[in-house]
Amino acid sequence: NRPLYFDCDTGIDDSLALAYLLASPEVELAGIGTVCGNTDAEQAARNTLGLLALADRDDVPVAVGRHDFLTRAFDGGAKHVHGENGVGDVTLPEPSRAPVEGTAAEMLIRLSHEYAGTLEVVAVGPLSNLATALEIDPSLPSRVARVTLMGGAALVAGNISPVAEANIGNDPEAAAAVLGAAWPVIVAPLDVTLENVFEEEHRALLLASHSPVARAVGEMLDFYMDFYVATYGRRCSALHDPLAAALAVGQVVPTNAPAVPVTVDTTAGPGRGQLIADLRGQRVGPVDHADANVRIVLATDAPLAGILAERVAN
Ligand code: BDR
Ligand code: CA
Repeated sequence: NRPLYFDCDTGIDDSLALAYLLASPEVELAGIGTVCGNTDAEQAARNTLGLLALADRDDVPVAVGRHDFLTRAFDGGAKHVHGENGVGDVTLPEPSRAPVEGTAAEMLIRLSHEYAGTLEVVAVGPLSNLATALEIDPSLPSRVARVTLMGGAALVAGNISPVAEANIGNDPEAAAAVLGAAWPVIVAPLDVTLENVFEEEHRALLLASHSPVARAVGEMLDFYMDFYVATYGRRCSALHDPLAAALAVGQVVPTNAPAVPVTVDTTAGPGRGQLIADLRGQRVGPVDHADANVRIVLATDAPLAGILAERVAN
């Protein structure tokens, strides 16, 4: 199984993505780094350690990452979406162990040496840790097989501004560094993650599971679905982070993911945090640009919800 470094701001959909990765025999979680985003980096680490304890996976090392974004202080996170504690105010077990010494960026660099050429990265929070690792060691991309990330709104509206999605928009400078580095990147933007949603029937499968981690995530999703009712008028929840995880695992496959030039707006204006992907000329079918190493996933071969619920619950 393929070694994976998972970078997250453990939130509710991050928790579902983690539960999914833990249940996926194709990959082996070599390490997890946390970053501020949905909640602060320390709380994200507590949440992650709690979930790992429930899954009986105290062997997976967790490192606390950046407490702030590259050019801006963390502002408290998305409590209205993910609850006071980031996990829908569900009580997870008190972690019986501490995070490892060193930062998430240092963990990523260390793993890239340990698994040089085979390490894969899945990033589902702001890209601050990855950007920091690139700053410390610009040769990092040469040892990483690929990066799969959830972020951006390519052709649809943003979710923290008219044009910006949270993971890119919270730390645009970090996103620009990660998307500009010489590693293959697969991006799951809102365009495709909003098309893949959990309904009550999927949540019910988790709640009925024999797996404690599946049940805990099932409980959290109640909070997340309440937010969706209030925001979108529909009781469901988008599978943002799980979609990136499933693309990395290979359980869903992109059917439309052109490799295109991308930039991130890092100006101070209303466009700040926008992922600008050059998708001109893509109406007939995916058209790859020579030399582009960032793929924007616009569609996948199968709806994720059923596949995900089944794997996490069983
Ligand atoms: C992304 O932002 C976070 O709130 C979610 O966990 C997801 O990673 C969606 O925009
Ligand atoms: Ca996230």
